Amino acid sequence: MTIRLIVLLAFVVMRTDCTSAPSELCEVDDLACKNVTRGTNCGCTFSGTKAKCCHFKLNLVSDYVFNCNLENLTALFFFNCSSPDTGTNVRNLDLTPILKKYPQLLTMSFTNADYNTIAFDPRNDSRPNLQCLNVSSNNLENDTAIKKVIESVPSLRLIDLASNNLSYAPNISNGEDLWMHMAENKFLRCDGIADMMMNNSTKFLNPGNTTCVKTTSIIQWEANTDVFRLSLDNIEYANMVSQQCPSKCMCNKGRLIPTGISTIITVEVNCSSRHLTELPAVLPMHTTDLDVSNNNITNLMPMSVKNKNSNYNKLRTLYADNNKITSIDALEGTDFLNSFDLISLKNNKITNIPHFIKKAFDKDSGKGQISISGNDFSCDCSTAMQTKPWLITHKSHIQDFDQITCSNMGKKKVVDLVQETLCVNEEINYIYYIIAAEVLLLLLLVGKVSYDYWVFKHVGYLPWPASKMPRLPCDYFFEK
Ligand SMILES: *[C@@H]1O[C@H](CO)[C@@H](O)[C@H](O)[C@H]1NC(C)=O
Ligand SMILES: *[C@@H]1O[C@H](CO)[C@@H](O)[C@H](O)[C@H]1NC(C)=O
Ligand SMILES: *[C@@H]1O[C@H](CO)[C@@H](O)[C@H](O)[C@H]1NC(C)=O
Ligand SMILES: *[C@@H]1O[C@H](CO)[C@@H](O)[C@H](O)[C@H]1NC(C)=O
Ligand SMILES: *[C@@H]1O[C@H](CO)[C@@H](O)[C@H](O)[C@H]1NC(C)=O
Ligand SMILES: *[C@@H]1O[C@H](CO)[C@@H](O)[C@H](O)[C@H]1NC(C)=O
Ligand SMILES: *[C@@H]1O[C@H](CO)[C@@H](O)[C@H](O)[C@H]1NC(C)=O
Ligand SMILES: *[C@@H]1O[C@H](CO)[C@@H](O)[C@H](O)[C@H]1NC(C)=O
Ligand SMILES: *[C@@H]1O[C@H](CO)[C@@H](O)[C@H](O)[C@H]1NC(C)=O
Ligand SMILES: *[C@@H]1O[C@H](CO)[C@@H](O)[C@H](O)[C@H]1NC(C)=O
Ligand SMILES: *[C@@H]1O[C@H](CO)[C@@H](O)[C@H](O)[C@H]1NC(C)=O
Ligand SMILES: *[C@@H]1O[C@H](CO)[C@@H](O)[C@H](O)[C@H]1NC(C)=O
Repeated sequence: MTIRLIVLLAFVVMRTDCTSAPSELCEVDDLACKNVTRGTNCGCTFSGTKAKCCHFKLNLVSDYVFNCNLENLTALFFFNCSSPDTGTNVRNLDLTPILKKYPQLLTMSFTNADYNTIAFDPRNDSRPNLQCLNVSSNNLENDTAIKKVIESVPSLRLIDLASNNLSYAPNISNGEDLWMHMAENKFLRCDGIADMMMNNSTKFLNPGNTTCVKTTSIIQWEANTDVFRLSLDNIEYANMVSQQCPSKCMCNKGRLIPTGISTIITVEVNCSSRHLTELPAVLPMHTTDLDVSNNNITNLMPMSVKNKNSNYNKLRTLYADNNKITSIDALEGTDFLNSFDLISLKNNKITNIPHFIKKAFDKDSGKGQISISGNDFSCDCSTAMQTKPWLITHKSHIQDFDQITCSNMGKKKVVDLVQETLCVNEEINYIYYIIAAEVLLLLLLVGKVSYDYWVFKHVGYLPWPASKMPRLPCDYFFEK
C-alpha cells in the first residue's frame, strides 16, 4: 500500500516536473503600482525584498529607481516601463547597468513594454545571480540577441518570452537546465522548436498552450508541408512516434485534427503482409488508422478494454482483411466500437456476429462502416430471423451486406435465407407436433373419464380399467 502510494507520488512528481517549472524559480509579482509623478524621489512600491516600479520611461531609471534603496532586494518588477525615444526603430532593453548595480537580484521582470531587442554586456565585471528573467508582453523579435543574454547570465534558470514577436526560440546549446516560456508568439515556427525538443536542449513551459506555425516537414515520418498550428505537446509526441512504431510496421502521418488552439497530427500504422500472428500490443499515441491485412492474426485481444495503455482508444479505422480471426469479442465495450469509421474483417474465420456489434449499430446509426464477408458464418433459423433483417436494415453501413454467406449451407447468402423454410423444418414444427399430441391425449383422457362416469351412473359398475384398479382410502369415503 505504502509502496504503491510512493510510486504514485513519484509518478505525479515526475509528471508535473515535465510541464511546470519549479515554482521557487520566480518570485510572484503581487505588488500594486504606485501612481508615479515625475520628480518623486523613489517611484516604486516595496514589500519585503520585492519592489515594483511602473510607468517609467527607462531613461528615468537613474532618476527614480536608482534613488530607491534596493540593496537587499531579491525581486524587481518593472511594469509598463517603456524605452526612451531614440529616434530609431531599435528599442533595446539593456540589462547591463541594473544587473551590475544589483547583482543580488534573483527575479527581474520588464513586462508590458515595447522592447524589440535585449542586451547584456558581461564584460563590466558584473556577476549577476539572476535566476528568473521575465520579458513577456514586449515586442521582442531578435532571438539571437536573447540567446546572447542567456549565455551571458549562466545563473539563469527561467526566461519568460511569452507574448512577444519571436519567429524562433533562442536555440542555446547547453540549456538543459533552462525553462523557456514561448506562448503567444504568433509567428513562432515549429522547425526550430522541434529540433530543440529533439535534442532535449531546453524545457518548455506550458507546452499545451504554446503553439507554433508548421511550415515545413518537421518530423521524420511526415512528408508534407501544410501550414497549420501545432502545440508543443504535439511536437513532443510526434518526435516520439518513430520510437513507438511497432517493429515490422510503418508509421506515417495520419489525419490532421483541429483542436481548440492547434492541430493534432495523428498516426497511421501499416503492418500489412508482415507475417504477424497477433496485433501490435501497443500503438503510437494518436494512432487513428491501423492496417493489419494479409497476416495470420487470430484474435483482437490487444484492442480489448483490459489493455488500457495500448493506445487503441483513438483508433478510427481497422483493416484486418485476410487473417485468421475467429472471434471479435475483444471489441466489446471499447472506445473504438463507439467511434469507428471503418472495420474491415473480410476473409477471416469469424463464426458469428456478436450481439454487441448489432447493438452498436442500433444505438447510433453514426458513420461507421463494416465489411465482414468471406467469413465462416454458421447459419440457422436465428440467422434468418435476426441477422438477415439486421443486415438489410443497416445495409448503408455494411458495405458487403449482400455478400455475406453461410459456410454450413454451401455459401448460400444470408440475405437469401428464407425464414419459413429454415425455421419450420426445425424446432417450430417439432414443438407444434408435441403440443398437438398433448392436446389429443388430454381430450382422450377427459372423454374416457366422462364415459366411465356415465356408465357407472346408468349401469352401476365401472368399466375396465377403472374396475381393476386397487381401492384407495378415499374410495371408502365416497361410498359412504
Ligand atoms: C493616478 O493619478 C491620476 C491623477 O492624479 C489619477 O487620474 C489616476 O486615476 C491614478 N491612477 C491610479 C491607478 O491610482
Ligand atoms: C504606461 O505608461 C505610460 C506613461 O509612460 C502611460 O501613459 C500609460 O497609460 C501606461 N499604460 C498602462 C497600461 O498603464
Ligand atoms: C541589507 O542587509 C544587511 C544585512 O542583513 C543590513 O545590514 C542592511 O541594513 C540591509 N539594507 C537595507 C536597505 O535594508
Ligand atoms: C562597461 O563599463 C564601462 C565603464 O565602466 C562603460 O563605459 C560601458 O558603457 C559599460 N558597458 C556597458 C555595455 O554598459
Ligand atoms: C511574467 O509576467 C507576467 C505579467 O506580469 C506574469 O503574468 C507571468 O506569470 C510572469 N511569468 C512568470 C514565469 O512568473
Ligand atoms: C539581433 O541581435 C544580434 C546580437 O545582438 C545582432 O548582431 C543582430 O544584428 C540583430 N539582428 C537584427 C535583425 O536586429
Ligand atoms: C512581428 O513579426 C512579423 C514578422 O516576423 C512582422 O511582419 C510584424 O510586423 C511584427 N509585428 C510587430 C508588431 O512588430
Ligand atoms: C539557431 O537559430 C538560428 C536562427 O535564428 C539558425 O541560423 C542557427 O543555425 C540555429 N542553430 C542551431 C544550432 O540550430
Ligand atoms: C541538435 O543536435 C544535432 C546533432 O546532435 C545538431 O546538429 C543540431 O544543431 C542540434 N540542434 C539544436 C537546436 O541544438
Ligand atoms: C532526449 O531524451 C530522451 C528521453 O529522455 C532520450 O531518449 C533521447 O535520446 C534524448 N535525445 C538526445 C538527443 O539526447
Ligand atoms: C491553457 O490555458 C488555459 C487558460 O489560460 C487553461 O485553462 C488550460 O488548462 C491551459 N491548458 C494547458 C494544456 O496548459
Ligand atoms: C500464415 O501461416 C502459414 C503457415 O502457418 C504460412 O504458410 C503463411 O505464409 C502465413 N501467411 C502469412 C500472410 O503470414
